[in-house]
Amino acid sequence: MKEEEKNTLPGISGPLLAWYSGNRRSLPWRDDPSAYHVWISEIMLQQTRVEAVKGYYARFLERFPDIRALAEADEDTCLKLWEGLGYYSRARNLQKAARLLMADYGGEMPRHSGELRKLPGIGPYTAAAIASIAFGERIPAIDGNLLRVFSRLALYEEEIRKPAAAAAAEAFFLEQMPADRPGDFNQALMDLGAGICRPGSDPACGECPLRQHCRAAEEGRASGLPLMPAKKARGIEKHTVLVIRDDDRILLRRRPGRGLLAGLYEFPVESGWLSEEEAVQKAREYGCDPLRIRLLPAAKHIFTHKEWHMHGYEIRIGSFSGDAEGGAEGVAAPGGQCFTAPIRDLQEKYALPSAYSAYLPE
Ligand code: ADE
Ligand code: SF4
Repeated sequence: MKEEEKNTLPGISGPLLAWYSGNRRSLPWRDDPSAYHVWISEIMLQQTRVEAVKGYYARFLERFPDIRALAEADEDTCLKLWEGLGYYSRARNLQKAARLLMADYGGEMPRHSGELRKLPGIGPYTAAAIASIAFGERIPAIDGNLLRVFSRLALYEEEIRKPAAAAAAEAFFLEQMPADRPGDFNQALMDLGAGICRPGSDPACGECPLRQHCRAAEEGRASGLPLMPAKKARGIEKHTVLVIRDDDRILLRRRPGRGLLAGLYEFPVESGWLSEEEAVQKAREYGCDPLRIRLLPAAKHIFTHKEWHMHGYEIRIGSFSGDAEGGAEGVAAPGGQCFTAPIRDLQEKYALPSAYSAYLPE
């Protein structure tokens, strides 16, 4: 077979690891890559940019330095530390898994990817990342970066979201992966994907250590790869956010325990865009007696599958009467009644989705 007909050119690991030695990003979880550290960082890094994760990672580990601390914490504390990262089921699954580790695994992370995959929130990618980085298992951690790099190196022209693509990428990289540095090999590919083999029309092939091994670069087709499925349009939902407050208290409720933003706190929200009159009427239904109403700026929040287009009103009342205080302070049940909370507690105590950040009182 002629060299250019092979789809796995030999020898990416040498130039890749040499490049990594000189160019690896200095990241907090790389300083002491214990399985616990790698696990927390990988869960945070799903759906979230490296720069955004750094601060969260430090605060989380300070509060929960080990599996036991995470297992023993209450859910609200864990969610509060997650506030703003989004995809909150990740935080709940971390705690579920930590409790399972304490109960069934002697408080230690299992060392093999097959065992790691049995834990809540740990899929094939995360299991492979932990096992390769913390325990030296030879297994590629196939995320979006590795899929993109693979599609270009191998000139893979099938749709990249299909399971067959992940299997092809795994086989391709496994063949190349050295026995002594699987974790570095995976992380080098992640860094290459983030910094050099960037998405869209932006790969820096001129600076790439794998340029000589890359079929897409050779054919000038890198920016057309990987082949993505057509995007579905997101549904748009209209909401009205009611910020109902007196001088120092505010009306809150807790979202249901399942579904989008489960278990987080929010202001009362109505579907549709309400007029001032309708908003005042709603406030009365919550047992409040509005003095003034003020239109707040419109805001938009984009989720994976939908968009919220929000209007908001600040509704001032004299003071909350007994009627409005449905729940006891701080122990609101998910999906339950509204309750009032001191406004300053929005900072320290209640985790609100960042979708509402435009409506937070200063
Ligand atoms: N993205 C996800 N995990 C990563 C890691 N360990 N290093 C760099 N980028 C990442
Ligand atoms: Fe990506 Fe270009 Fe490097 Fe190929 S040569 S791996 S397309 S950056």
